[in-house]
Amino acid sequence: MSLSVLLLLLLVCSAQASDFLGTVLTYYPKQTYGSLSVDFHYKQSFRSCLYNDTWYCPENNCGYAYTTMNRINMESSGEWCQTETFTTRVFPDNNPFLFVFDGSAWINNIQNVVAWRAVTWVELRTRSDTGRANTSPQTTVLPALRVPSNCPRDFSLLAFDPDGDEVKCRHASSSLAECTQCAPPSVLSLSSSCTLSFSPTNSSNEGPYAVQLVMEDFPRQNITLTRTNGSQEVKTTNNAISKIPVQFVLKVVPAVPTCTQGIYLPTFLPPTPANGARLNVTVTRWLDINIKAEANVSTITGLLVSEPHYIINASQNASGPAEFILTWAPSWDQAGKIQTICFVVQAVHNGSKYHSDLRCVTVSVEYEVTRPTVPPLPYLVALRVKISLLPKPQINYDDIWTQINDLLLKYGLSLNSNVQFVGYLQLQPPVGAT
Ligand SMILES: *[C@@H]1O[C@H](CO)[C@@H](O)[C@H](O)[C@H]1NC(C)=O
Ligand SMILES: *[C@@H]1O[C@H](CO)[C@@H](O)[C@H](O)[C@H]1NC(C)=O
Ligand SMILES: *[C@@H]1O[C@H](CO)[C@@H](O)[C@H](O)[C@H]1NC(C)=O
Ligand SMILES: *[C@@H]1O[C@H](CO)[C@@H](O)[C@H](O)[C@H]1NC(C)=O
Ligand SMILES: *[C@@H]1O[C@H](CO)[C@@H](O)[C@H](O)[C@H]1NC(C)=O
Ligand SMILES: *[C@@H]1O[C@H](CO)[C@@H](O)[C@H](O)[C@H]1NC(C)=O
Ligand SMILES: *[C@@H]1O[C@H](CO)[C@@H](O)[C@H](O)[C@H]1NC(C)=O
Ligand SMILES: *[C@@H]1O[C@H](CO)[C@@H](O)[C@H](O)[C@H]1NC(C)=O
Ligand SMILES: *[C@@H]1O[C@H](CO)[C@@H](O)[C@H](O)[C@H]1NC(C)=O
Repeated sequence: MSLSVLLLLLLVCSAQASDFLGTVLTYYPKQTYGSLSVDFHYKQSFRSCLYNDTWYCPENNCGYAYTTMNRINMESSGEWCQTETFTTRVFPDNNPFLFVFDGSAWINNIQNVVAWRAVTWVELRTRSDTGRANTSPQTTVLPALRVPSNCPRDFSLLAFDPDGDEVKCRHASSSLAECTQCAPPSVLSLSSSCTLSFSPTNSSNEGPYAVQLVMEDFPRQNITLTRTNGSQEVKTTNNAISKIPVQFVLKVVPAVPTCTQGIYLPTFLPPTPANGARLNVTVTRWLDINIKAEANVSTITGLLVSEPHYIINASQNASGPAEFILTWAPSWDQAGKIQTICFVVQAVHNGSKYHSDLRCVTVSVEYEVTRPTVPPLPYLVALRVKISLLPKPQINYDDIWTQINDLLLKYGLSLNSNVQFVGYLQLQPPVGAT
């Protein structure tokens, strides 16, 4: 008994040793009847899927979380596991707040950054231009990106802002307590438009770097933010509205004989969507993204994707390009939102892994139903709900509950509505599901 307790403690301690590969958090307020509710999507990257940690609000003012769902996305050789947690929080008022995530175990890196800290400024006051709460920039990252030390490369992070704000990136700042050990990577230069440029460097700079960025949205004209209690604040075009952390690992790997893409480094071929392409899908359907890549000397081993809920159908002839069909199913909590998906193709030569460029697309996830007009409270509503369960090893009741809750919110029904199941009917699987 005491032995197993000891083993468990040792495991927990070693998990803290050096396992973190970054995080990203985005938020999306929802229009609801009466209360303010906000969806949070946060991704945490660790070496193992067993580890995760929680975000907290230092002032204890981050509402009440009423749904939580976890999804997992792994690199096939076990280099990293990215977990995505989806939470809807309900707030009694629209006061902005700080959301913090910290710990002590970045993976070993050249800057010797050990402690991690990421902060989000969640701005919920009503914007004068949209009449609604602010939505954060929408973005995502892969836990680890690779570049050989002798090859120049630009990483264009995708940043989409649903409110139409201007999105800018900067390194996290110690004076703003956005990181514990800030040390920006010496080998990267960052433009405010969120492109990270890597310039060729010598072999003494090879190794992993902790990249700690902050992404902010700026209004395109002066706006006023109004609290529930009526107090106001003006934001000019130089004032950020919200901020989110974007943290990941850049691995500078040994030099390759040539930086020409398509030889050691895989290169994308048509019909791979361009970086920044905008795609559409309805929430009950699958989205197929065709990706083709080639590398003449190295061997393409896979496609790495930043989003859970996907299936990859890969085909490759003995020589010639590799083709992937990335089939992605939006989950119900993504409905009505813009989702970002990033991917790289990974290849191997003589034991070294190489990455293609980073490509990111935005996907607009549409609802299929039309919104009825809602009469004033109190009233009784009978809903006939079509719940789509994607083919999974087992039914996830959290998923079903989230879908029902979201549907109620979409129709402007408050959460304390008295919900009762009357019956069910099983339908055919959605078109395209296998
Ligand atoms: C995070 O850890 C908790 C327990 O510590 C667990 O219940 C939860 O499922 C984990 N989340 C993920 C995404 O693995
Ligand atoms: C490699 O770069 C570092 C700093 O960028 C420098 O101090 C070092 O002298 C360089 N080494 C060689 C062999 O050029
Ligand atoms: C925006 O607000 C600032 C500060 O209040 C003010 O100086 C500036 O003139 C305003 N700009 C516009 C276009 O109204
Ligand atoms: C509104 O609330 C904020 C934060 O609680 C407070 O600082 C401010 O003074 C309040 N304004 C009014 C008009 O009550
Ligand atoms: C790779 O090989 C194919 C067939 O030999 C050739 O057509 C293509 O141009 C090569 N690509 C590069 C980047 O050299
Ligand atoms: C996605 O939808 C928008 C608006 O409905 C439309 O303008 C755009 O062409 C669509 N894109 C694709 C790739 O279908
Ligand atoms: C994978 O692709 C092959 C060839 O294109 C096709 O025959 C097969 O049905 C696909 N499998 C899935 C699960 O889509
Ligand atoms: C593999 O070869 C077959 C027949 O030559 C061709 O139809 C198919 O498109 C090729 N697949 C790839 C991924 O190049
Ligand atoms: C393979 O890598 C090893 C070191 O990792 C190196 O010594 C060897 O020369 C490489 N072989 C080729 C063919 O590049």
